[in-house]
Amino acid sequence: MKYIVCSLILVLSFALISACNKSSSSSTTSNGKYFPTVKTIIQNNCLSCHSSTGSWSGRPTSFDTDSSIAASYSIIKQSVAGPFTFTIHKMPQGGSLSTSDINTIIAWYDKGGKTTD
Ligand code: HEC
Repeated sequence: MKYIVCSLILVLSFALISACNKSSSSSTTSNGKYFPTVKTIIQNNCLSCHSSTGSWSGRPTSFDTDSSIAASYSIIKQSVAGPFTFTIHKMPQGGSLSTSDINTIIAWYDKGGKTTD
């Protein structure tokens, strides 16, 4: 009886782990492109400060156009995934991104960080 219960628990945890892996990888692309997802992540998590009309107007760098996001692809990736330095601090300031959002930004950066990637 103990054996059956233990195997059941094992099987269930494997099912759970594979279900989790599936959901995080399916959210990384939309039509095979990362940029649309990256743009949504930035709109939801960064524009409150990084916008020319936002509360910090002027500085920090604004990410409110496709071209400004692409131009900053390298520091955007660095600010969410590191390495952090004296000038590049962990973002979003005062918050955090989900692991799958961070992985999407890294994948976009690795592909080239353009609006077409
Ligand atoms: C609550 C406001 C706030 C949010 C939200 C925020 N940032 Fe920032 N960010 C700042 C401030 C203020 C600075 C400048 C000071 C510093 O570096 O800490 C900055 C600096 C940066 C820099 C360095 C270049 C610069 O403009 O000085 C990058 C890159 C950056 N942020 C990326 C992001 C990304 C990507 C997100 C979303 C995932 C994000 N930030 C969310 C406030 C914010």
